[in-house]
Amino acid sequence: DPKPNIAIDGPAGAGKSTVAKMVAKELGYLYIDTGAMYRAVTLKALREGLDLNEPVSVGEMAAAVSVELIAGDDHNLKVLLDGEDVTEQIRSPHISRNVSLTASIPAVRKHLVKLQKEMAKQGGVVMEGRDIGTVVLPDARIKIYLTASTEERARRRREELFAKGYHVDQEQMEAEILERDRIDTSREADPLTPAPDAEIIDCSSFTAEKVVKMIKDRVLTER
Ligand code: C5P
Repeated sequence: DPKPNIAIDGPAGAGKSTVAKMVAKELGYLYIDTGAMYRAVTLKALREGLDLNEPVSVGEMAAAVSVELIAGDDHNLKVLLDGEDVTEQIRSPHISRNVSLTASIPAVRKHLVKLQKEMAKQGGVVMEGRDIGTVVLPDARIKIYLTASTEERARRRREELFAKGYHVDQEQMEAEILERDRIDTSREADPLTPAPDAEIIDCSSFTAEKVVKMIKDRVLTER
């Protein structure tokens, strides 16, 4: 029996990456961050001076781009854009502010979803994103929708950014997160929404360890 795939979806800053990485590490699964792929495509579009409101040119670029996720130390992923390491650059606030526009273009999604399905073919992946349980891996045996209060999500994002040398105030961070949620949930193509069979976990007051244990327990009872 192949290892099951685990789909983790949810809004920005809910703690998906932290939890997904820990689950992958503890189970010996492959961690895949699909948001990083949309971020890499966004970086390329901005570098090329493309207008993100122009779906045709961005879609054509996305169909020809190479985005690779390489497993690095300690389950951290290296992101290669046309062979160039862009792991750090794609985390900048500028990319965060623009990525949801790129991700609302159907041709971009079509291309990246195809790559993501390919990556999960063998089983044993922990894949995080917005549409994993609904579109990329509708047959995943374990689907988690991770959420938390806006305040808590903004607080976590600010801490992450602070560690990278960016200072954003709480109010601005909450506004940016809400704007990203708004675009992600209201877009026509594959909007952010829990799959009907997803377990919804509000982790506002849970530690990452607690959520990891809940997911691992699900995997163990599944097998
Ligand atoms: O997870 P992260 O915050 O890095 O995702 C960045 C953006 O990429 C999201 O806000 C969303 O617009 C887009 N995304 C998506 N579908 C995914 C993963 C990310 O639309 N599966």
